[in-house]
Amino acid sequence: LSELPEGYTCRPLQRSDYQKGFLDVLRVLTTVGDVTEAQWNERYEWISHRNDEYFLLCIIDPSQKIVGTGALIVERKFIHNLGMVGHIEDIAVAKDQQGKKLGLRIIQALDYVAEKVGCYKSILDCSEANEGFYVKCGFKRAGLEMAHYY
Ligand code: ACO
Repeated sequence: LSELPEGYTCRPLQRSDYQKGFLDVLRVLTTVGDVTEAQWNERYEWISHRNDEYFLLCIIDPSQKIVGTGALIVERKFIHNLGMVGHIEDIAVAKDQQGKKLGLRIIQALDYVAEKVGCYKSILDCSEANEGFYVKCGFKRAGLEMAHYY
């Protein structure tokens, strides 16, 4: 496993992370929108009641700011003997913190959780531009993503 740089820590998402720049980190990934603290609390509550299914991690820098995040969602199936599949979602590292292996560390941590809870594989969707990153994290190209937007 790669180590975090000196002074950085990795921990589960907390309710107070609204104040610590969590949503700003996600803005490097895509549109987040104007999420109020009340809306955040409601969604946080929903997720935290499903703590055997939703695993959201944060990387904190030495100044206690959130600089990276990633999520694992564990899907319970009937197939493969009631198999479980990990879905890796919403990986983001703050622009000025990229290239320090924080992304790699997030994936390793989520992979560890997925294996520990009994997933037989983890899967994710990414752009061609990010393929090299996920290959370095041990993933390989499999299948094709389809989407239906509503
Ligand atoms: N293409 C090829 N290789 C890459 C790329 C890339 N786009 N990005 C990083 N790498 C390599 C690094 O050079 C490094 O290689 P090395 O071990 O030989 O030095 C290795 O992958 C690990 O890189 P990290 O430093 O851990 O990468 P970083 O912390 O910058 O995080 C990430 C990568 C998450 C893609 C970051 O650039 C980011 O947040 N981008 C914007 C948001 C985004 O696209 N997120 C992924 C969406 S897909 C999803 O969420 C499932």
